[in-house]
Amino acid sequence: MSVRSSHDSVAGQAPAIPVAAPVLRAQDVRREYTVGGEPVRAVRGVSLDVRAGEWVAIVGPSGCGKSTLLNLLGAIDRPTSGSITIAGRDVARMDDAEATRYRLTGIGFVFQRFYLMPTLPAAENVELPMVEAKHPRTRVERVARVLELLRYVGLEARGDHRPFQLSGGEQQRVAIARALANEPALLLADEPTGELDARTGTEMIALFDRLNRDGTTIVVVTHDEEMARAARRVVHMRDGAIVDDVVVRPMTGATGGAASDASGPAS
Ligand SMILES: Nc1ncnc2c1ncn2[C@@H]1O[C@H](COP(=O)(O)OP(=O)(O)O)[C@@H](O)[C@H]1O
Ligand SMILES: [Mg+2]
Repeated sequence: MSVRSSHDSVAGQAPAIPVAAPVLRAQDVRREYTVGGEPVRAVRGVSLDVRAGEWVAIVGPSGCGKSTLLNLLGAIDRPTSGSITIAGRDVARMDDAEATRYRLTGIGFVFQRFYLMPTLPAAENVELPMVEAKHPRTRVERVARVLELLRYVGLEARGDHRPFQLSGGEQQRVAIARALANEPALLLADEPTGELDARTGTEMIALFDRLNRDGTTIVVVTHDEEMARAARRVVHMRDGAIVDDVVVRPMTGATGGAASDASGPAS
């Protein structure tokens, strides 16, 4: 049986025993669009805490605001109101330059459609965030890190392949390696199995499971029931709000440490 989350973020409730600060804290986040003069309340007052080492699946009917929320967490979009703190940084109030830097170093984002650079081989796709972030690694160190990441996702023999020479599942593995390049505190994924066949989707879920066991904190939006079952905590959304938040399985013992542990494969 599932148990209720002990860290349900019911407004301002302080835990009896101090716990590590959450990697992610969203408080009363709202996002409204105006379409044809009419307001569309895509996210209407979401509060959510995610601690290091958690694996959270966000589920709910199409149009309930899952992607809007994830884009806010990833600083792809800004909330109309409310606050979002990730790894101690206020995401909601960043200017564009800060948001760009944060997206490169603070989080890894995985999309349903992979979004690899079509002209670059897999290895260079994985290296790109390290170059763009001006990460203080030498070229030799970057290449070593790329190899390690490709090995981690089982693609060490595919580094020279361009995206069109890879299957959908392989492209998504490259995208995950790329997302981990700068050792983000948080991995965000929007329907990462949405374009994959069932068997490849199952392999992808196994990779997420391994990442989480190795310490990566994950928030994944999904329609995939198998993915939701594999996650440790399931947050249900409806009409722009969280209506249920359930811990399915406790975190594995090795995780739950500092954000700097959340690098997946060691760097
Ligand atoms: N850029 C936008 N402009 C106007 N409305 C939007 C925009 N993005 C999303 N919406 C609306 O916000 C709601 C939530 O959308 P979304 O977050 O994509 O839902 P989900 O990912 O759960 O399917 C929907 O009603 C959608 O039509
Ligand atoms: Mg969506």
